[in-house]
Amino acid sequence: MTQGESRQRVRVELGTRSYDIDIGPGLVASAGEILSDLIVRPRVFIITDETVAKIHLGNLTAGLSSAGVAVETFEIPPGEASKSFAHLEQTLAWLLAHGAGRDDMLIAFGGGVVGDLAGLSAALMKRGMTLVQVPTTLLAQVDSSVGGKTAINMPQGKNLVGTFYQPIRVLADTDMLTTLPERELRAGYAEIVKYGLIDDADFFDWLEDNGTDVLALEPGAIAQAVAVSCAAKARIVAADEREAGQRALLNLGHTFGHALEAANQYRPDLLHGEAVGFGLSLACRYSTRLGLMNESAAERARQVLELGGLETRLSACPGGPYAAADLVHHMRQDKKARGAHVPLILTRGIGQAFIHPEADFTDVEHFLSEERSGL
Ligand code: NAD
Ligand code: GLY
Repeated sequence: MTQGESRQRVRVELGTRSYDIDIGPGLVASAGEILSDLIVRPRVFIITDETVAKIHLGNLTAGLSSAGVAVETFEIPPGEASKSFAHLEQTLAWLLAHGAGRDDMLIAFGGGVVGDLAGLSAALMKRGMTLVQVPTTLLAQVDSSVGGKTAINMPQGKNLVGTFYQPIRVLADTDMLTTLPERELRAGYAEIVKYGLIDDADFFDWLEDNGTDVLALEPGAIAQAVAVSCAAKARIVAADEREAGQRALLNLGHTFGHALEAANQYRPDLLHGEAVGFGLSLACRYSTRLGLMNESAAERARQVLELGGLETRLSACPGGPYAAADLVHHMRQDKKARGAHVPLILTRGIGQAFIHPEADFTDVEHFLSEERSGL
C-alpha cells in the first residue's frame, strides 16, 4: 500500500491479471487521465444505476471527455432486484447493439449491485471485455469492487449465478461517499470492522479511536480505512482467488448475517451490511461460548460496531424476532457447505479469525435461542 495525504494505491497481485486500486478524492473527475493508458478506443461503456446517474454521472462523463473519451451509458433501476437474469440480458443486448468488443472498456459505476451485474456482463460479453470498477458506496469500495466476484440472483437464492472476473483497475473515489445515505455508510463500515476482526488487530485498535472520523468522512480517515480494507482483501484474494480455502475468512459474520437477511426475505429494512453487523457480533459471541474468544474481546467488537451506529443485539434485528430453528435452516444453505458439512468462520480473538470446518447446528440453535431472548 502506498500512502499520500488522502490518496492511496493498493495492488492486487494476481500475476498477469494484477491490478491497482486507487483510493482518494477527485478520481472520478480525473478518470480520463487516470485510465488513459488502459483505454484503446475513444469511447467507453458505462453501466450505472438511476440514482448514481442523477448525482454523479455528469462528473464521470466530464472526467472522461476532458481526455477525449466519449461515453455510452446504460442505467438500471437502483436496488437488488436489478441483479436479475432479465437485467443481465438487457445489459448484454445493449452492449451488442452498440458494437462493444473485447478491447472496449466497460465501467461499472455504482454500488455492489451495479458492480456485480456489470462485472458479470463484462465476463460474458464476447467471452470477456475490459472491466473497470468505479465503486460509489462504501461497501463497494471496501469489498465488492475488489476480488472479481460477479453475480446475479435467482429465485432460488442470492448470487447463485456468477463468475470470477477481475477488473483491470478500481477507482475508489471517496468524494462519492458524501452523497451516500447514512445507513448505507454504516453498512459499509460493518465490512471495514470485519477486516480488523479477521487478521488485523492494529487496524481494529485504530478503528476504536478513529471509527467516528471514518463515518464523518474525514478525508485522511476515510482514505486510510478504505485502503487498509482493500489491502486486506487484496492479500486474501491473491492467496486464494477462487475460494478454495482462505478466502472464506472474508465471510466472517456472513453465515449468521445471510441467515438474517434470508429470514427477513431480503426486505430493505435490513441492509446486507447491517446484517453483517449483527453477524459479526454473533460470530464473536458464539466464539466466546465455545471458549475460543474471551468475553472482553467480544464486547470490544460489539462496541466498535455500535460506535458506527450499527445494532448488534439479535433481539433488535429488524423483521424479528426470528425463530432460532429458522435461522439455522438458512445457515445450512450457506454456499460454503460441502454436502451436509457447513464450515463456520470463528475467531480466537481480535484479528484471529479461522475456518472452523463444521458447525454444530444443535449448539448453534441453542445459542441463537439464548441470543434471541437477550440472555
Ligand atoms: P447498492 O449497489 O444497492 O447501493 C445502495 C444504494 O445506494 C442504491 O440505492 C444506490 O443507488 C445508492 N447509491 C450508490 N452510490 C451512491 C452515492 N454515491 N450517493 C448516493 N446514493 C448512492 O448496494 P451496495 O451495498 O453497494 O452493494 C450490495 C450488493 O453488493 C449486493 O448485491 C451484494 O450481494 C453485493 N456484494 C458483492 C460482493 C462481491 O464480492 N462481488 C461483496 C459484497 C456484496
Ligand atoms: N465478499 C466476499 C468475497 O469477496 O469473497
